[in-house]
Amino acid sequence: VYKQPTAFVIFGASGDLAKKEIYPNLFWLFKDSLLPQNTAIVGFGRKNLEIKDYLKQKIVDRMKLEKDDQEIYDIFVDKNHYICGNYNDEQKFKELDSTIQKLFLDSNQNLQSANRIFYLAVPPKVYPDISKRIAENCRAKESFYTHLVLEKPFGKDTNSSNNLSAHLSKFFQEEEIFRIDHYLGKEMVQSILAFRFANQIFRRAWNRDSIESVLINFKENFGTEGRAGYFDEYGIIRDVIQNHLLQILTIIAMDQPISNSADAIRDEKVKVLKSMDPIKIEDVVLGQYVANEMGASVQKNAYTDDKSVPDDSLTSTFATMILYINNERWDGVPFIISAGKALDRTTSEVRIQFKQVPGNIFKNVCKRNELIIRIQPDESICLKMQNKRPGMDFILEETDLDLTYAEKYEGLYLPKAYERLLMDVIYGSQISFVRSDELEEAWRIFTPILHQIEAERIKPICYKFGSQSIPESDNLITTKGNYTFRRECK
Ligand code: BG6
Repeated sequence: VYKQPTAFVIFGASGDLAKKEIYPNLFWLFKDSLLPQNTAIVGFGRKNLEIKDYLKQKIVDRMKLEKDDQEIYDIFVDKNHYICGNYNDEQKFKELDSTIQKLFLDSNQNLQSANRIFYLAVPPKVYPDISKRIAENCRAKESFYTHLVLEKPFGKDTNSSNNLSAHLSKFFQEEEIFRIDHYLGKEMVQSILAFRFANQIFRRAWNRDSIESVLINFKENFGTEGRAGYFDEYGIIRDVIQNHLLQILTIIAMDQPISNSADAIRDEKVKVLKSMDPIKIEDVVLGQYVANEMGASVQKNAYTDDKSVPDDSLTSTFATMILYINNERWDGVPFIISAGKALDRTTSEVRIQFKQVPGNIFKNVCKRNELIIRIQPDESICLKMQNKRPGMDFILEETDLDLTYAEKYEGLYLPKAYERLLMDVIYGSQISFVRSDELEEAWRIFTPILHQIEAERIKPICYKFGSQSIPESDNLITTKGNYTFRRECK
């Protein structure tokens, strides 16, 4: 692929996602010589845009240019082109097709084919129009590939998601569709596979015999500022739980795949989802943040203070829930997912608590082992274990086996999620992308509870901006979740 000409088309080129993630990450890949040798980037958007000026002036600060980068950035900018048009204007898609063809004229002015990637960095309501027009007008020619890249939300429930999947499958093969869940591109999420399947000591213990409970915990210390219009329609469950955190759960829970191919891995993830029942309301705590009078800045406002949120909005900005996997490995083990905005800190981590040692011979308390995989910030894997406190007496003490990446891999650059995912799209690896059956199962588990919350207008519990948690959530986690809160690793 590296030697094949490649056209990278960005729909929504003047939008936020393109500005924040797609252009910068393409540049970083280019700078590291990781883009195919002959790549052209074509922006497509409704705004009239001078793309080269836009890249050189408006969004250059996003590129984190280093001292000697100006020259290579100029070369990168020269690879960029732009078409201004509406997403339902057939003619513009024909123009896009001929623009791409012309970009790949060889030295004898012969048309040369190229792989084509179409990244839909646009609101989901225009996915159907754009995907249809791409398929009808802009597919790659001959044996070159066409890849379609989409961002969540993939629908709002089973029906809307299935409609979208059915629409896409009319025009594209599943192998051509790359549904991004950017959590799958994170270093620590990728490392779970290695950790689980390349370490005999954990393979043996990874089941209901040894594990008491699993907590997947996501916190942000900021609210929904600037995105509340979108957020109010979706809420925390659709925003991060049904996708990012459920994906982590499936990787933690799946059986060993028959190989490390994309389909083998996704087959096992789907099996986990198929073993799960829809969530029950009694296993859920919902919350919405309110103003914190102690905070002076606008950051400490209530969720409903945002102009784009109705005063009586019941959208949850916090949710804790317990899920069960009804299979031989996990029967009865609570998997707790907890996620909230406007809390005391920002973190995402997986905490696996092992069972008590049976027949404890020590007089003082022998605490459970806990394995903590911190996805961000400060990537680390930490195992809490009991040790004899060094010295003459015999007293147990908890200590950490600590693999903090910043120390262990000092100075090493960890690729950003989008950098890795863009590479995967270009080189055709679907391991870190969501397959349509995975999506369908995920919605099967969440749709009933989402519909019930909406139909019964269930009121979220208020919590103050900056809270550590919600007492009702802590209670659910410790009682039904069988999880014991412990001190932080380091
Ligand atoms: C996005 C959600 O998908 O993920 C956001 O829409 C959330 O609400 C974000 O803040 C979290 O991603 P990250 O990579 O910053 O942890």
